[in-house]
Amino acid sequence: MLRHFVFDAYGTLFNVHAAAERHKETIGPRWQQLSQTWRTKHIEYTWVHALAGRRATFWSLAQRSLDYAAASVGGIPADLRDKLLASYRTMQAYPEVREVLAALKTKGATLAILSNGDPDMLAEAVRAAKLEGLFDDVLSVAAAGIFKPSPAVYRLATDRFGCKPHDISFQSSNRWDIAGAKAFGFHCVWINRTDAPDEYPDMKPDRIARDLGALLAGS
Ligand code: LAC
Repeated sequence: MLRHFVFDAYGTLFNVHAAAERHKETIGPRWQQLSQTWRTKHIEYTWVHALAGRRATFWSLAQRSLDYAAASVGGIPADLRDKLLASYRTMQAYPEVREVLAALKTKGATLAILSNGDPDMLAEAVRAAKLEGLFDDVLSVAAAGIFKPSPAVYRLATDRFGCKPHDISFQSSNRWDIAGAKAFGFHCVWINRTDAPDEYPDMKPDRIARDLGALLAGS
């Protein structure tokens, strides 16, 4: 069994669509479209900033992408915008997360988050999802000054654990994040929660699983 387990945060541990779902009655029938556009634009903005050499916080991009998503569905009231942003900071974890992390820890694994999130966002999310005390470290891209999938980000994990890339099992539900992590040399587990088609054939995951529970079955 690999010793170091490193997890992407948003979409992998925390349900990014839970923020909009919490307010779906207020948003109305287009809540899923709003949520999907919010997420897609948020990630696109990280890529553009990384490639353009512009620094930005993940939080500022969360706000700008929500504003775009809101405009794309015809606008939302200011108080709903505030509520959605507040919900984004306190998302629920997926149902299996706590149990899987606790079991891996019992087996002697070291656990960390490696995320685009700002340090304060990640601390709040971990607290809200009641996952405190399970992680050996919570690594934010802020320390690298660039977003995923820059190799400088994945290097934060090998530097932290003083190990080689293939000593790390990296879990992400974002296929593009798995591509970047594989190019860096991690052992990669793609958590394909939505049964999405595979892509990036030149940067394949070592394993594909429906949720994190597979980590226990395979260790
Ligand atoms: C993260 C984004 C990619 O947590 O979901 O890094």
